[in-house]
Amino acid sequence: MLESYWMDSTPATAYSSLTDELETDVVVVGGGIAGLSAAWELTEAGHRVALLEADRIAAGVTGYTTAKLSALHTLIYARVRDSAGPEGARRYAQSQQQAVERVAALSSRLGIDCELERVPAFTYAESPDELDAIRDEVAAAAEAGLPASLVEETGLPFPVAGAVRVENQAQFHPRKYLLALAEDLTRRGGQIFERTRVAGLDEGHPCTVTTEAGHTVTARQVVIATHYPVFDRGLLFARMEPRREIVVAGPIPAELDPRGVFITTEENTRSVRTAPYRDGQRLLIVTGEHFTPGTDGVVEHWERLIEWTRDRFPGTPIAYRWATQDNTSTDRVPFIGRFHPGADNVYVATGFGGWGMSSGVLAGQLLAALISGTEPEWTGLYDPRRLNLAREAGSMLKLQAKVAGHFVGDRLRPSHVDSVDDIGPDSGAVVRIGGRQCAVYRDDAGTVHAVSARCTHLGCIVHFNDAEKVWECPCHGSRFGVDGTVIQGPANTPLERA
Ligand SMILES: Cc1cc2nc3c(=O)[nH]c(=O)nc-3n(C[C@H](O)[C@H](O)[C@H](O)COP(=O)(O)OP(=O)(O)OC[C@H]3O[C@@H](n4cnc5c(N)ncnc54)[C@H](O)[C@@H]3O)c2cc1C
Ligand code: FES
Repeated sequence: MLESYWMDSTPATAYSSLTDELETDVVVVGGGIAGLSAAWELTEAGHRVALLEADRIAAGVTGYTTAKLSALHTLIYARVRDSAGPEGARRYAQSQQQAVERVAALSSRLGIDCELERVPAFTYAESPDELDAIRDEVAAAAEAGLPASLVEETGLPFPVAGAVRVENQAQFHPRKYLLALAEDLTRRGGQIFERTRVAGLDEGHPCTVTTEAGHTVTARQVVIATHYPVFDRGLLFARMEPRREIVVAGPIPAELDPRGVFITTEENTRSVRTAPYRDGQRLLIVTGEHFTPGTDGVVEHWERLIEWTRDRFPGTPIAYRWATQDNTSTDRVPFIGRFHPGADNVYVATGFGGWGMSSGVLAGQLLAALISGTEPEWTGLYDPRRLNLAREAGSMLKLQAKVAGHFVGDRLRPSHVDSVDDIGPDSGAVVRIGGRQCAVYRDDAGTVHAVSARCTHLGCIVHFNDAEKVWECPCHGSRFGVDGTVIQGPANTPLERA
């Protein structure tokens, strides 16, 4: 994996694995911003908590984010106003803004130096054709209660036709914040186990989770915070779409630093922020070029983003490149709450749609409140059990048609190459061998690594990502190493050896 600036600028963690049976009040599965926030808030509320992380905490999507901490989520308010009414939009604004304030308050209370900077947030458009959407968003965000205005000056070193500007937003270093939160959590008696993958969940009174190594944890309540849920009893996979994006970063000439957080839907999305960097410099962080994981053209996406960055911020050498992905729900509002209609003690937090910094913190607060027996007024807005078929059916059908296209089409497709001999060094392809589709990778030394190409989630055929040298599933975004190990779910078991 290409390393992010956040990973490079913080120490690795080394919490021990779970090696015994355990009994606790709440078990949190997954140690990203959602799981760590939930574990901390639950500990604060007086619950005994154990967090189980398959790999290392704050090193999944959260370790590779852009870390804008904002209640302005591109053009969300016009959408939520249209789907959930003005009251829904107001609740979205309130809940997201209070999550921004929660990070500020906790950093100050716990003395966490996470480079939190208060800055304005902008959603901009360069093309006058997009101005109506910008105006509509200004109106919807202001109606929802945010300090939003329409501006033409943004601080970006290129002109825009117009932008939504919302005051008093923030940006921070996500790992500096979360690693400190994790330390505080353990000081208060909470437990963190790394390299402890959860493989089974038995819902009951109490619930039992079983780790890959065979240990069981018994708890009254379970929080699934594995990004894409590894157990999907609410069929959320039918209502979420994975979207992968690229990030490039480098020290920016001081006079070009725009001092704010910026995003546009134009040019396949561009997002800009800066962060404190070494020797008093600032690091420009640019994100964009989203695509479905497991589809072609990844190298071209990288090239386009690098070219755009060089063009718009001349004199910025590219020091870091990385990529990660998030899931977007069909109504664009995250799923935070009880897992499925029959669940009374299993909870989930997912579907952050590229805005999991504020939504992950909010998830921690909301789940801790629900588990403690209170219901904040935004509970219904985020409830995973909501389903407005009249509004969501179109997006759900489109999503399922795309998945079905991959499931059937990729099976019928001949091999990506005729034979294993056609695969060059450090390259991979799906090859049909004896009627079976195999995912074959040839390393630099010429050794061939072959695993089954059938994704262990629901059986779609994986594709090779040439830029990152991993196997990716186009159906729901599972990712696997060249040896078949799971990098990212929803798949929870490795590709079979072939
Ligand atoms: C390119 C990009 C830029 C972004 N920038 C921003 C931004 O500027 N602002 C913003 O608000 N949001 C942003 N986001 C979104 C945000 O980064 C994510 O929504 C958020 O990090 C998701 O956090 P999480 O806790 O759900 O997932 P993760 O951080 O992935 O955590 C899930 C954890 O669960 C673990 N896990 C998985 N399976 C198991 C298992 N079986 N057992 C135990 N543990 C398991 C994983 O190892 C992982 O550590 C961005 C997203 C992308 C793609
Ligand atoms: S991720 Fe669902 S089938 Fe592969």
